[in-house]
Amino acid sequence: MERMESNRMIVLVPLTLQGHISPMMQLGKVLKLKGFSITVFQGQFNQVSPSSQHFPGFQFVTIPESLPESEIETLGPIEFLFKLNKTSEASFKDSIAQLLLQQGNDIACIIYDEFMYFCGAAVEEFKLPSVIFSTTSATHKVCYSVLSKLNAKKFLVDMEDPELQNKVVENLHPLRYKDLPTWGFEHLERMLELCREVVNKRTASAVIINTVSCLENLSLSRLQQDLGVPVYPSGPLHITASLAGPSLMEEDKSCIEWLNNQKPRSVIYISLGSLARMETKEMLEMAWGLSNSNQPFLWVIRPGSILGSDGIESLPEEISKMMSERGYIVKWAPQIEVLGHPAVGGFWSHCGWNSILESIVEGVPMICRPFSGEQKVNAIYIESVWRIGILLQGEVERGGVERAVKRLIMDDEGAGMREKAIGLKEKLKASVRSGGASYNALDELVNYLETERK
Ligand code: UDX
Repeated sequence: MERMESNRMIVLVPLTLQGHISPMMQLGKVLKLKGFSITVFQGQFNQVSPSSQHFPGFQFVTIPESLPESEIETLGPIEFLFKLNKTSEASFKDSIAQLLLQQGNDIACIIYDEFMYFCGAAVEEFKLPSVIFSTTSATHKVCYSVLSKLNAKKFLVDMEDPELQNKVVENLHPLRYKDLPTWGFEHLERMLELCREVVNKRTASAVIINTVSCLENLSLSRLQQDLGVPVYPSGPLHITASLAGPSLMEEDKSCIEWLNNQKPRSVIYISLGSLARMETKEMLEMAWGLSNSNQPFLWVIRPGSILGSDGIESLPEEISKMMSERGYIVKWAPQIEVLGHPAVGGFWSHCGWNSILESIVEGVPMICRPFSGEQKVNAIYIESVWRIGILLQGEVERGGVERAVKRLIMDDEGAGMREKAIGLKEKLKASVRSGGASYNALDELVNYLETERK
């Protein structure tokens, strides 16, 4: 229920990448409905438009000193995040000082993405309440906690020993040490430094996670222990906020018409999120495997997402022909609507956390092809803990693709996974209803925000 606006301001600081902006803005929408006024501080790219119809009454501020998006490519993700934090710290502090003057000091809380840890300096200087928002899974956060305690040199030596590689991480069964999300061992030392920054809660007095306790009970308990502050598992926020996105790219809704003409549960939907890119060779093997499976497919191919190719137009003619005969290609889809369409039988995903929550909420089983970050950890949980999907590892080849699609869409094995996904869907929907775990966590969070620093 919408409450009277209290005018107490919440400052939100998202990391402006699609997978991080969406849950942060969804949280903002929920808190606005609970009566807070919302100010969003954004970096210089991927800005949510102040005129967006989804966020009436929100205030938007650009952090004056930030980084351009091109630096992600130049520096790589780890160095980009270090530099972004260094560059933004002082100018964010200045902006908050100005806002405090305008606001008569009434900022109820700064809620910042765990990767935007530069906010800690302003929070400390102005003695403001702050809460960290983690847009990935609780298990991922526990992995960061484990990684933050490791020594890079020793870990590299340990990982040469197959017994240690395959050792299960305490309380994270079935994850083994070699599955920890290190973003490639070549930058291990810097990666572990980043983990230390991210798990350092500084002055933040609580953590919000876009997850659901029934999915990650053990990880949440361990996290609570590790962090020693309240943890609010409040997801899936896209349901509570009734908001898909906000999408940074234009959605091509023509695919819904195409789906309307397909048989129930026959289509495999393929999307690798907003960042992952694949080699042309892998893409071609996937295309042949899909073709040989005889199942229709809807494939999101973002501009620039196939390395060494200018997109579908520059592929060999027989491939383009096959793709247009059996499939439908878009540059960006209305993903939640697609997953909820009765024609969709499975989701081929890179296993970004938002995509997983969205798939479960629609009861759709998955083929997991993780690329980077924590995606492999997510994929292991999908296959081995929740048992709602198939993990594809190693080199992609057409035979393996064909088998995976058939297993998921046509075999009893896939039907069993769908049944489990539907079971989880019911649990997730119950968790956001009055009295459910996520509903209660959000209520507790709101009480906490209302009483802090009054
Ligand atoms: C990345 C990480 O992979 C993810 O685990 C982390 O939590 C955030 O950063 P991304 O790779 O973009 O995110 O994947 P994901 O988390 O799945 O988010 C993608 C979002 O884009 C989803 O909300 C999805 O619905 C949306 N999307 C994707 C579309 O709306 N249309 C598309 O065509 C593709």
